[in-house]
Amino acid sequence: MTHPIIPSRHPADGGVGVRVPSAIRLPVNEHHDLPAPPALAARRRRVRFDPRQVGWRIGTAHEPRGGELWCPWDRTAGVIGPQGSGKTLDLLTPALLGAPGAALVTLTKLDDLLLTLQERQRDGRPCVVLDPFGLAPGVTDLTWDPIEGCVDPHVAERRAKAFTAGTVKASAQSGSGDAAARFYAAEAAKVLQCYFHAAALVGDTLDAVLHWVAKPLSSPRPAEILTEHPHAAPFWAGLLQGALHGDDRTAGNTITTVQQALALFFQPDIRRRCVPGPGRPAVDVAAIIRRNGTFYLLGREDPYASASPLMTAVAEHILDTALQLASASPYGRLCPPMLSCLDEMPSTAPLPTLITRMANERALGLSFIWAAQTRRQLDTIFGEQQARALFGLTNVLILFGGSKDVAFNKEVSDLAGPVRVARTSWNLGQHGGRTASGEDIPIITADEVRQIPARQALVVAENAKPLIARLTRSIDGKPGRALLAQQRAARDAISVNRATQSDAQSRTAEAHAEARRRNLNQPRSTP
Ligand SMILES: Nc1ncnc2c1ncn2[C@@H]1O[C@H](COP(=O)(O)OP(=O)(O)OP(=O)(O)O)[C@@H](O)[C@H]1O
Ligand SMILES: [Mg+2]
Repeated sequence: MTHPIIPSRHPADGGVGVRVPSAIRLPVNEHHDLPAPPALAARRRRVRFDPRQVGWRIGTAHEPRGGELWCPWDRTAGVIGPQGSGKTLDLLTPALLGAPGAALVTLTKLDDLLLTLQERQRDGRPCVVLDPFGLAPGVTDLTWDPIEGCVDPHVAERRAKAFTAGTVKASAQSGSGDAAARFYAAEAAKVLQCYFHAAALVGDTLDAVLHWVAKPLSSPRPAEILTEHPHAAPFWAGLLQGALHGDDRTAGNTITTVQQALALFFQPDIRRRCVPGPGRPAVDVAAIIRRNGTFYLLGREDPYASASPLMTAVAEHILDTALQLASASPYGRLCPPMLSCLDEMPSTAPLPTLITRMANERALGLSFIWAAQTRRQLDTIFGEQQARALFGLTNVLILFGGSKDVAFNKEVSDLAGPVRVARTSWNLGQHGGRTASGEDIPIITADEVRQIPARQALVVAENAKPLIARLTRSIDGKPGRALLAQQRAARDAISVNRATQSDAQSRTAEAHAEARRRNLNQPRSTP
């Protein structure tokens, strides 16, 4: 058997569901009265099929009734459901806990991180956390140098585009429109790729890039490097000149977008936590993937300080590294596969390459599950066409009820398709009789999509018929209680670490004392 999700005709209604047999059985011994020879019995036991080795458990088929539903690692999955519907606890957490290989997790809630951290650390597997806002003091930081590797113009370009892609949502929210936001993201990427490349060519650090970003129009150095350095990508000096010195309005918006893309790094605390420094080397991404470790990218829903640009760039770097490892692997793929669990994708890491990666890389051992609260968020981030493509390329769509988006509910109803039902009518009277006809009605109406009960979801998987699945919440039962206990312990440890951080009052007092020492607290007389 090559594909663990198999269509199976369900006896109850003749519908086709998606289920996995709990075991693959060997051909049955025809002499039922004879016990199986010991060697055969041992072989039977050996080849019992464990679906956990090839996929993650979605739940059980509820409507129509059926067996367990599993999603293979080489199939991509997308989850849409409103706040609190169970995307994280019912689907992404079980998938993450079941992932045998490395994992990349984006999220915005500390509790979601603490729920799985200990379990993912089991057997000495490494876990690193990109925590720009310092929400989880005491965990191992993911430190990363954005300049590293940018001597290669391809790397510089990809990295710049990843940083600026993360600005699209913030710009769209501030009212500048999705299309305009994407235009300025592309312009800003030209500037950033030139800066990253120039800094890498002369061994400058991120600090130098931040100097240029703070005052792009009065920083001639990057253009000089790109013009004079023999290893500089040709024509990039012109690219930089064009992006920064167009008409005033366009150039002004481009510069603002560049600054937005690196805004997090202008906070000294954030820079210290995320960027390598003395005694804090950059993490070895490839080594963590090889050891089946976990990268958590912990953002925050914050319109003032979005972590999206940084998280998108780090996620792209991790996925590019995984792809290199997959190509170099003797199996021609990552083995075991690496799971990208992109929770709250629109606000965490809206990867510009996601659609291409989902199309090409799932067969190389890179598995993807994304989650969003609404379809509209995807349109905002990727544009309507790309969002549609993302939908189309996702093998298994899992949709929760509760959405107030009437157009989306209708779209889901259309996606589920119609079913033909027989109608019989009786005519009374002298020439009466019975007429039979067929009628197509929606399998699930838009209103029924909204009314899907909690802990259930509509699953539309590849070419199988749609079905309603009953889900298992990861905090339920004995295993759930164990997870919650680990979460509590991790939260307590973090509170202790947080208590040791200096608070705002003491920092203010230190700053005032320093100001007095340097005589900065007195207004200077102007000459
Ligand atoms: N520790 C807990 N104990 C009991 N219930 C919880 C706990 N944590 C979360 N829940 C509940 O479980 C439900 C599902 O939560 P979950 O975090 O999976 O939702 P979600 O769809 O991921 O929401 P969001 O989009 O806000 O992340 C929510 O209604 C929430 O109130
Ligand atoms: Mg969630």
